[in-house]
Amino acid sequence: MLAAMRRVETKRELRAALAMNAQKGVRRRVLVPTMGALHAGHAALLRQAREIAGDDGIVVASVFLNPTQFNSAGDLASYPRTPDDDTSLCETCGVDILFMPDAAEMYMPDRSMNVEETQLSRVLCGASRPGHFAGVCLVVSKLFNMVQPTDAIFGKKDYQQLVILRRMVRDLDFPIQLHGAPIVREPDGLAISSRNVRLSSQQRAEAPGLYAALNKARKAYLEGASAGEVCAEVRREMETLSEVRVDYVQMVHPDNLQEIGGGEKGVQPALLAAAVYFGDVRLIDNIEIFAE
Ligand code: PAF
Repeated sequence: MLAAMRRVETKRELRAALAMNAQKGVRRRVLVPTMGALHAGHAALLRQAREIAGDDGIVVASVFLNPTQFNSAGDLASYPRTPDDDTSLCETCGVDILFMPDAAEMYMPDRSMNVEETQLSRVLCGASRPGHFAGVCLVVSKLFNMVQPTDAIFGKKDYQQLVILRRMVRDLDFPIQLHGAPIVREPDGLAISSRNVRLSSQQRAEAPGLYAALNKARKAYLEGASAGEVCAEVRREMETLSEVRVDYVQMVHPDNLQEIGGGEKGVQPALLAAAVYFGDVRLIDNIEIFAE
């Protein structure tokens, strides 16, 4: 649609804006959920959404810093907030409706429902961030109900999130097609993340080492090294950097996140995923290893 973007803050305004578009015979309604602090990675999601929606569809973006998915108050408090820039970026990327609720609009004070995934959310990031994916599933299912999109887009940097949301859509029968968007990187390879701004200059200089190590590991795996060998090598390379603590480096199956055994070689498709603290900034990255 080509009308000016509408920015709404309440569910009621959102419903009214969606109803107006429904009257115009909109076909696809594509949702891009975000937590704001939008960057080039989000811009790519929004542009992909615009393409999927086409001329007779609409793109709905949400900006909501979701408290239920943070398991540390400090992490929530230090998460960057840039609502004015977010609004301009959404406008530039062809968003039709921007939904920017506050926490009181999204959550009743006596809310007592949860949406919990019980397998895929126990591993990788879920192991060190208990409750995180339940918070993600809760807010995303609420957004799905509010917006009733035909399609929704999530970035592959949060690969585990995408896999869990695919499971949620399948198991709870949301009639929504999910799309995974490729990771967007800085020229030096660092995956773009809202958390990158919190890196010190030395940490920022070292952070691209993570993607470099994952790439090297992918090559070694394709040349015959075992899953265990390449994970150990990534860990070793990371631990040579200063102020770095490795949370995990794991090779898993990309659909069910089951670990590929340390001695296994050449199992494909595979996902090599890592989470590494640079000081107190936790960065994640991953690389797909798909049979050609
Ligand atoms: O990926 C994110 O930014 C968030 O986890 C999401 C999907 C917007 C839910 O709050």
